[in-house]
Parts: sequence; structure tokens; C-alpha cells
Amino acid sequence: MRQRLIIVNTSPDPLKPLRNQKALVTGANSGIGEACALALGEAGADVVVNYVSRPEEADRVVEIIKQSGRRALAFQADVSREDQVQAMFARMREEFGTIDILVNNAGLQRDARFQEMSLEQWNTVIGINLTGQFLCAREAVREFLRRGVVPDVSSAAGKIICMSSVHEVIPWGGHVNYAASKGGVMQLMKSMAQELAPKKIRVNSIAPGAIKTPINRAAWETPQAEGELLKLIPEGRVGVPGDIARAAVWLASDASDYVTGTTIFVDGGMTLYPGFATGG
Ligand code: BGC
Repeated sequence: MRQRLIIVNTSPDPLKPLRNQKALVTGANSGIGEACALALGEAGADVVVNYVSRPEEADRVVEIIKQSGRRALAFQADVSREDQVQAMFARMREEFGTIDILVNNAGLQRDARFQEMSLEQWNTVIGINLTGQFLCAREAVREFLRRGVVPDVSSAAGKIICMSSVHEVIPWGGHVNYAASKGGVMQLMKSMAQELAPKKIRVNSIAPGAIKTPINRAAWETPQAEGELLKLIPEGRVGVPGDIARAAVWLASDASDYVTGTTIFVDGGMTLYPGFATGG
């Protein structure tokens, strides 16, 4: 029998692919996390805006989401602390009933030459960037499994998007704690995806390249610094948070229903080893 190609519109409202879904974005009061929270809200989701400091910034994000007609609430929690993460998920369940989408975004850098790196710098980065993703993902998965698939909401029981980095594959001298944390995120994501796919839970990563956010301000703030940075980016521009947020909406939606265990590099070609375009 000949197979027929069927073009499917996966959402009844293509402009609101996440209608009525409940999302939690960690580190959502600035940079990439903020852009993801706003984009998920625009796509129809109610959003928990997690933050650890600067509550006024979290409130600002919440207000913008509310103006678009969705529900939103700010919640302070250090993602590396099990008790705080569990309190956040309990509050989310109280307020929104459940969770459909987790964007594991909170992350930081504590840079140092290798021989000077302190155990505190190492532990802080691994604690937030890797253990934090584990703790949040585990709570989300417990809820996904409890609730299961609700076909009117999504064809998945839940979606997890891990914010990784091009440094899950590109080694990064002077930042070994950060690169190690993102390499860890890659295997955390893939192993979870493998284990949880039979339960209809999708787990994927986004690997941003250089995106204009506070984390790497020094790398793009001056024309000289930006010039150096652009040598590493074939597309010839530094990314903006919206570049990442659009990928997050797609990964959270049923449009990516057959995608799990993968990293989407959103990096203007940074992982294409641009030095080899003319060298090697
Ligand atoms: C880091 C940025 C850096 C970019 C490209 C990101 O993961 O947080 O500081 O500019 O990778 O190297």
C-alpha cells in the first residue's frame, strides 16, 4: 500500500500553540529566561517566573505576561536547593494545578584560570547549572507521571527544555566549571529523554551561542570586544534572547512531537569551527 503524506496542523490555533499549558521557567527575570517566559506567555501558556535575586525584575516579567491575558506568578527559589525547588513546585501546583513545560534555564558563570579556580567557584557552577537542572526536572517528571497525557492540552505528558550552551561540545579554557556543567547537562538531557520517552515525556536542549545578555556583557559591550566575538560567529551577528525563545516555544509545542533527546544549536554557526573556513 502506498503511504500517503499528510500535512497536519498540530494546533487548533497556530498563533497560540501552548494555549492553557502551564510553564515554569527558571532564572526568568533576565536574559534568555525572561525572553522564554514572555514567549511562552505569548504562545498561550500560564507561567511561573522563577528568580533568585532582584524580585522587581521578576515582577516586571509577570506584569507583561498578565497584560497578554495569561496568568503569571513570580517565585523565589535557588534551584540548587532541594527544599526551595520542592516548595516552588508545590506552589505551582496549588496555583496552576499542574505543570506541562519546564524550561531549565537558570545558570551562571564563575570564571577563573584552572589553577586558580576555587572549590567554591566549581561547586557554585555545578550546583546551579547541573544539579539545579536535575532537581527541577525531577519534580517536573514526578508531576508529569502523576498526571499523564491530557490529549486536549498536549500529545505529551510533559516537555522539558534544558538550557545548555555551545560549550556542551566546545571546550572552554578559563571556564572549565561552566563547560563541565554543560557537558553534564547534555548527558542529563539525553539519558532522561531515553528513560522517559515511553512515558510520553520529551526532553531536549537548546545550546545558545553568544547571546547578548548580562552573563557575557564583557564579550559584546565594547566595539573591540564585539569585533573579537564576531570572528567566532559565521552569521556575523551576536544573538539576541528572542532567537532562543522562538526555539523554546517550538520545542514546548506539539509541532515538535517527534523530537526528543536532541540539542538544537542556536548559535549563528559558532559550532562550525569558523577558523577552518580559511585555515586548517
Ligand atoms: C556563555 C557566554 C558565551 C557563549 C559563547 C555561553 O554559554 O554563557 O558567556 O559568550 O557561551 O562562548
